Formats: sequence, C-alpha cells, structure tokens
Amino acid sequence: MRSFAGRDILSLKDFERNEFFHVFDVAAKLEPIAVQRRNSDLLKEKTLVTAFYQPSTRTRLAHEAAMLRLGGKVTGFADAKMTRAGDFYQESIKDTVKMLEFYGDVIVMRHFQQGAPHEAAKWASIPVINGGDGWGEHPTQILTDLYTVLKEKGRIDGLKWVAVGDMRMRTMHSLGYALTQFDCPITFVAPPADALFPGSPDMRMPESYKADFRQYSLNFREAEHIEQVIADADVILVEPVVQPDYTKSRDERKGELPTTPDNYKITRELLERKAKPDAILLHSLPRMDEIPTDVDITRWSRYWQEAFNGVVMRMALLALVLGAME
Ligand code: CP
Repeated sequence: MRSFAGRDILSLKDFERNEFFHVFDVAAKLEPIAVQRRNSDLLKEKTLVTAFYQPSTRTRLAHEAAMLRLGGKVTGFADAKMTRAGDFYQESIKDTVKMLEFYGDVIVMRHFQQGAPHEAAKWASIPVINGGDGWGEHPTQILTDLYTVLKEKGRIDGLKWVAVGDMRMRTMHSLGYALTQFDCPITFVAPPADALFPGSPDMRMPESYKADFRQYSLNFREAEHIEQVIADADVILVEPVVQPDYTKSRDERKGELPTTPDNYKITRELLERKAKPDAILLHSLPRMDEIPTDVDITRWSRYWQEAFNGVVMRMALLALVLGAME
C-alpha cells in the first residue's frame, strides 16, 4: 500500500480498497481521544493551515478540532474576502499557496472552483486536503460517512445504498468513486430539469461521472421517487435539492425558496411505512426541508454520529498525511 505520509487527499477516485480500510483502522485507534474529550500530543510540532474560499461550519471546524485534539496548532482564513485572493489583487492559487506552505505543515482548502485544491497541490510542498471544490468532490466527508456506516452496521460490503438529492453535489461524486471499491449497489434519486420550478436545473448525476462510474464498475441505477427504492436500502444518504450555487464564493438567500418535492424528501411517515427497521439515514448537513426535524429522534437517523465521526476521520487523515501514523 502507498504511504499516506506527505500525500494529498484530493479525490476518492484514486483511493484503493485497502487504503479505505487502513484509514478506518487509524480512525478507530485515534477515536478514544475524541470520545474522552482529551487532547494528545501526536501532532504537537505541526500546524494546520485552513484556506476556506467558501462558507463552512463542519469541514473547517472539524479539521481544526481534529488538529487541536492531536496537540497541533491552527492558522488560516475562513473568509477569502479578507485576503489578497478576495480583494483588488485576486491573488492566484499558486501565489497564495506559495505563501501558505511556509505558515504550516498541511493545508485544508475549500474553494468554489472545481479543481482548485488540485492546483494548490501542484505548487505546495506540503500535503493539501480537499475540503470541497465547487461541484467537484468532498473526499473527507465521504470517508466520514463510510466510517460511520462501518461503525453502525459492522461492515460496508453487501449493503444497498440509496443517495437522494442534487447529484451535482460534490459529496455524491466522492461517494460514487468510493463505492467502486466495495460490493455496494447504489440508486441515485435526483430531480430532472424543471422539477422544483420552471427553469430549475437538471440535478441528475452528470453523464461524465456516470461514464467514470461505469468504467470503475460501480453497480448503480437511477430512480425517480424515493418511494420506489427506500424499502431495499440499508443506507440512505441525503443531500438537499434546494441548494446554493456551489460555483460561487457565496450565495445569499434571495426571495422565496421552493420546497423539496416529495420525491426527494425523507419523512418520519415514509421511514415508518417503508424503510427497513435497521436502515441508517445519513446527512452531512446543512439541511433544508428534505429531512424534517421530527426524523432526528427516530431509530434511522445517524447524522449526529456522523458529525462526531467527522472529527475522528480528520484526526486520522491529519495523522496519516503528516506521517505521525503509518
Ligand atoms: N457537510 C459540509 O461540508 O458542511 P459544511 O459546509 O458546514 O462544511
């Protein structure tokens, strides 16, 4: 297996099956630190640089919390408008990263441009972690979700997945790539054009990703309504369909928003009527109305466990890419 030391985490397309399991093993070893709310000194000589060009609650703070749990330090920016990349100069990724690499030992970057973290990795002499790039990928979130499934179900192979939401979403692409390495059939349920309102975009899985998934032997199909497929699912992963534009640095809420059509909504009533009693429901959040809050305390929801695992997974990734765990 390739060493993780010094490695960029940009995409799950290049992750091998044994590498997934290795990351899960390291996460399980480090998890007691987070469970006991302790801080260790594993990364006490190291500094994380956060470079966030798009809003985030979870991804940035989970990486920061993970670094602090491992005794490391954190610097960086959460609002690129307050940097030279977001003002008159529009400083390039290359010039920015050529500075950031002297301020710390690993960079986690979120950007509105697909491929921006890959461009950063080209120039940085320290590892770059993709914290979400435009509509591209969100590898650390899906590693978190797979780790959650492994913990909750005791296995990943043999489970049937349903993914509901906007398939332009970066998590969905990382999920498709990840499941190519497991025996996990998946059904994508997403709105076609005009489904939310006249002129709403086609949110079905883009053809380019479907072509890739076929080439990598993913067992996938598409359905129109969650009702058609939920009864078979062991894992239901949900993203909003009422979404901001992920190609923008910031998308403010304007006017009245559409509601989520029933086809893409997971209600308590639907779960009680159709879902397997031991299915699990994942949502990385933030949410709109696609999962009403009365689902939170049902037996299916696992999104708070996902949130905790998000810190543990980032601890594992930071320890690995910084060479503190092999
Ligand atoms: N799920 C997720 O990436 O959340 P944030 O946008 O808050 O980081």
